[in-house]
Amino acid sequence: MKGGWQPTKTAIFMKTIIKTINPENIDMDIIEEFGKMLADGKTVIFPTETVYGLGANALDENAASKIYEAKGRPSDNPLLVHVSDIDDVETLVEEVDEKARLLMEKFWPGPLTILFNKKDVIPSRTSGGLSTVAIRMPSDEVARKLIRASKVPIAAPSANISGKPSPTKAEHIIKDMDGRVDGILLGKDCDFGVESTIIDLSGEYPMVLRPGCITLEMLREVLGKVEIDPSLSSMADNIKAKAPGMKYKHYSPNAEVYIVSGENDKRIKKINELIKVNSEKGLKTAVLCMKMNSSKYNCMTFDLGNSYEEVAHNLFGALIKLDELGIDIAYAESFEEKGVGVAIMNRLKKSAAYRIIET
Ligand code: TXA
Ligand code: MG
Repeated sequence: MKGGWQPTKTAIFMKTIIKTINPENIDMDIIEEFGKMLADGKTVIFPTETVYGLGANALDENAASKIYEAKGRPSDNPLLVHVSDIDDVETLVEEVDEKARLLMEKFWPGPLTILFNKKDVIPSRTSGGLSTVAIRMPSDEVARKLIRASKVPIAAPSANISGKPSPTKAEHIIKDMDGRVDGILLGKDCDFGVESTIIDLSGEYPMVLRPGCITLEMLREVLGKVEIDPSLSSMADNIKAKAPGMKYKHYSPNAEVYIVSGENDKRIKKINELIKVNSEKGLKTAVLCMKMNSSKYNCMTFDLGNSYEEVAHNLFGALIKLDELGIDIAYAESFEEKGVGVAIMNRLKKSAAYRIIET
């Protein structure tokens, strides 16, 4: 069960400076120290309200290259750029149009990333060779203070080894990243737990390229018609994902994950049948489920919470735990594709390689 795709993990041995910061009482000496590391072209992992980011100076090609190396990330996958102030955007992009301005006013700082046509200051190493750049302003105070202290925009993808679930807790970072980056700034668990929503405003109508906690419904309230990139609803190769990162295998634990859909009682019955078959084969099984169901399965369960917001917050932590516990097969209850449920199902389908058992 344990085979399959593995990320490239080149050997990097760096001395990593690791510090913990209290978000309730932010130590500005630590912020200045890590801000200077970023200004000097070094790599720093830091918390945001979505997931932890692996940051470097977005304007410095060499610094951006170190991010790809640390993550084992394909070089055509562009980096997302973080700013600490709305005014910084104009220095990086050709134009901020009316729709972008409306979104920035309504959702920034926060988990919404907007695509813009980039200015030449953004090197092609950062934009993955594209003429556009993805920008967001995080609401997390530690993140914003750190970016401000660095005095540069910060390119930061999620701080996981490429292909693995994104880290949402301090404990997720050290195992994979100690020795691969210059600095790690540990803070609290990330509030939202799934990466930012990405929106492209360049087409006939706005298009969501990656669903997140700023939901389609919230975006439609501000912009009217907004659609979701059709490539997200299938794994068909003939529909090209507009966010290059969405085409790669993603969020994949070593365990084989299956989504089980259908009416609640039927789903519980089906999963319990599968658990029995697996246990006869000596396979270690777990179930990812809503709290109300967590006592109904005859195996280890990961209680994802009572609400979809809680499920989003807990999902990546549960996927990471599957591997720590050596689980062979995991069944995940399906969620309604409404509100944050769209983002949850997008991440779950990818981690399950689109295997869905219908009951
Ligand atoms: O919440 C987040 O967005 C986190 C935190 C750290 O801010 N960051 C994050 O970055 O998720 P990353 O690199 O893991 O995902 C960024 C996604 C990738 O799928 C990438 O392909 C896409 O954004 N992207 C970046 N620049 C793009 C561009 N110019 N056009 C289309 N897609 C782009
Ligand atoms: Mg990522």
